[in-house]
Amino acid sequence: MQNRYEEAARQATQKFRRTAEAAAREGLIPYKSEEGRWIGSPYDGNSWWTGGFWPALMWQLYEREKDEFFLAEARRAEKLLTDEFRVFRYLNHDVGFMYLLSCGADAKLTGNEQARQDTLHAASLLMGRFNPAGYIRAWNHPAQAGYAIIDCMMNLSLLFWASRQTGDPRFANTARIHADTSLREFVRPDGSVSHIIELDPETGARVREHAGQGYCLGSQWSRGQAWGLYGFTLAYLNTREKRYLDAAVKIADNFRRHIRPDGLTDCDFCQPDTEERIDNIAGGIAACGLLELEKITGDPACREAAEKLVNGLLDHCCDWTDARCGILTKCTASYHDDGAGRHTNITYGDYFLVEALAKLNGTDPMLWL
Ligand code: GLY
Repeated sequence: MQNRYEEAARQATQKFRRTAEAAAREGLIPYKSEEGRWIGSPYDGNSWWTGGFWPALMWQLYEREKDEFFLAEARRAEKLLTDEFRVFRYLNHDVGFMYLLSCGADAKLTGNEQARQDTLHAASLLMGRFNPAGYIRAWNHPAQAGYAIIDCMMNLSLLFWASRQTGDPRFANTARIHADTSLREFVRPDGSVSHIIELDPETGARVREHAGQGYCLGSQWSRGQAWGLYGFTLAYLNTREKRYLDAAVKIADNFRRHIRPDGLTDCDFCQPDTEERIDNIAGGIAACGLLELEKITGDPACREAAEKLVNGLLDHCCDWTDARCGILTKCTASYHDDGAGRHTNITYGDYFLVEALAKLNGTDPMLWL
């Protein structure tokens, strides 16, 4: 299989070498591609939570090829993202995704000191969202002061990184408190996870679960399952605390049971059989988490499942032509709201496909740590 993954990574590099020039020309950070064009974020301009994945993709390809074009394109997007520090009003807990994968990647791969400081700045913004009642607030709407979401497990890596950089334990301690709240409130007995839990912002007591981007209340939104799988794996890699590894393994076991025979991933594991709604982003994220889990536990079932997911994407849902700018098809942002894309190419899907291929090929710079 090795050659297959290497060939796919090579094709991805060549395709983005061609199509990234159009993004630079148009001055945008790609969110998705349709009909041969890049399209920027659907909401909130360059503050939209996905902005870091494009530079992260460029850093992945730079690390692989050492082609200065990818470095320049990553830094072009990084500048647009750091300009958002001055906008502020849209920024939320997703500063982890946005800045660890852009400025943090730059600092990690090139030693850029300004990029390191910008990443620390983002970590301070994330700290500012911590409610001492026990969680990091997800979003900014006044009615959502108590909302915490499973996706935030991925943002915690920014805090762990900041503690390692500064020697100040506040960042990591905060991340641990949020991770422990997530462990208690989100992980269900069957290994599935909730998307949104509303907590009382005064006491931290559970108020209720919300359905979020999945099919219905109590269902299993697949991308949320993947964020939990990879997020708890990262919490373990950052702390070596076994309870996070146990959670990651439990969530992975549940995810593995729901991979479709063709290797693709339904948008929600509880969606009706009559509904053909796929989210391949979830498969890409889960493959990355499973490959990290395999390295930690040595369990071959994790690698087998990751390969099934990646093979599914390569067999059925990769567009290597120039008909569209990106590669991965059948990406779906949300179960009930198609505004951010349904069954289309979405850039963070491409990012996780490329990260998974890099892990399989042994070239992943591991931008999350
Ligand atoms: N983190 C938001 C999403 O996965 O759609």
